[in-house]
Amino acid sequence: MTLRLIEGGRANADAPGLLIHGASQIATLAGGLRRGSAQGELALLDAEEAGGPGSPSAPVVACWEGRIVGVGPRDRVEQGLEMSGYALSRFVRLDADGGVVTPGLVDPHTHLLFAGTRENELVLRQRGAGYMDILAAGGGILSTVEATRRASTEKLAQHGRRWLDEMSRHGVTTVEAKSGYGLDLSTELRLLQVAYDLGQEGPVDVVPTFLGAHAVPAEYRSRPQGTEAYVRHVIEEQLPGVAAQGRARSCDVFCEQGVFTADQSRRILTAAASYGLAVRLHADELAPSGGAELAAELGALSADHLHTPSDEGIAAMAATAAGPTPTVATLLPATTWFLMTDEAAPARRFIDAGVPVALGTDFNPGTSPTPNLPLVMTVACLAMKLSPAETLAAVTINAAHAVGVADQVGSLENGKSADIVIWRASTVTQIPYWVGADLADVVIKKGRVIHRRTA
Ligand code: NIG
Ligand code: FE
Repeated sequence: MTLRLIEGGRANADAPGLLIHGASQIATLAGGLRRGSAQGELALLDAEEAGGPGSPSAPVVACWEGRIVGVGPRDRVEQGLEMSGYALSRFVRLDADGGVVTPGLVDPHTHLLFAGTRENELVLRQRGAGYMDILAAGGGILSTVEATRRASTEKLAQHGRRWLDEMSRHGVTTVEAKSGYGLDLSTELRLLQVAYDLGQEGPVDVVPTFLGAHAVPAEYRSRPQGTEAYVRHVIEEQLPGVAAQGRARSCDVFCEQGVFTADQSRRILTAAASYGLAVRLHADELAPSGGAELAAELGALSADHLHTPSDEGIAAMAATAAGPTPTVATLLPATTWFLMTDEAAPARRFIDAGVPVALGTDFNPGTSPTPNLPLVMTVACLAMKLSPAETLAAVTINAAHAVGVADQVGSLENGKSADIVIWRASTVTQIPYWVGADLADVVIKKGRVIHRRTA
């Protein structure tokens, strides 16, 4: 059957099935969370080893009505499908043309929704201003809060749609999106609702996170004990409202010297957990702040940034890795790069300690204005010396765990969502190797082609 690609639709609207063949490699990432020496294990199916892409046992992926129903050698997958009652004639065949096939990427840390831009801070930092100095002077997060509060809901949605589209053009099919530029109940609720609605609208899945404790807003800074008063406001006013709204899946706090202490973060996150929200943290980004320790103590899904964790913090996170719900270290090297910080987060120490590592863009207007997750893979290779394979696990299965959606996405396994990228690259290593290149050739979400670069 010849392929008829229908823009925004299934590969062929008449056929509920899709069979991707002709790949040089299929990185399935099957087998669960990666940590330690397994961080770079991709569960790779290689066409050459199977006798070449045209051989009957070359690897394929089969999807049916948006779900994966077969991954492996073509002859075996086809046989399995027929035995399960699927008519092979109802599968459109999509030729990967020698490209690499991977799961759709998961961006586990974004500040998707905001208004305004902050390119002025890039220039200020070039002249030596520190990130915290800019924030203390009322710039940074606070200037974005001002612009975001003023923005209409429709404007925020348009912005979100635009950047989700950019992300997905780079191969991303699931995005975690934080609030945190409202810092008052009504704007935080608006941001969470927009994030949720964008996910419902599709094609990209959006997982909303409440980040009311992103900074102390201006109206509390002028008060005595303003930080403490704001912490109480988050716990007593914002959290109940967010829980009643029911859009956020987790709660995050910027636990950092000069922002919220570990103790304040613990109080907010414990309250969040009592509403059934999962817990995550901006931890030890600029200075050791007890964030990694707290993440481990609270059983957080993820501790993020971790640029300056203490030895005890790494050990505490490693101790969770042996248990049923390890805390993932979500590292954000584009942020370190954009802040012009010399040292990268100690990724290798986390891996050596057995802590699962994920990578995210941290997309935001101040410290990481990039929607490009493959570029983050490159930066992780260069600045953290992660192997290309380790970075791929970090933006697929481990990122899915960090967001709490690993039962649905992050690997090519039967029953999971058919979120797939065909890359214009013949090896996995080439994905981060071609720096800043747009190699995501065909991006598939729930079995539908959402982007196609080549004709
Ligand atoms: O993850 N560090 C805190 N939050 C963001 C930056 C937000 C901003 O500067 O607007 C981050 O880097
Ligand atoms: Fe962040």
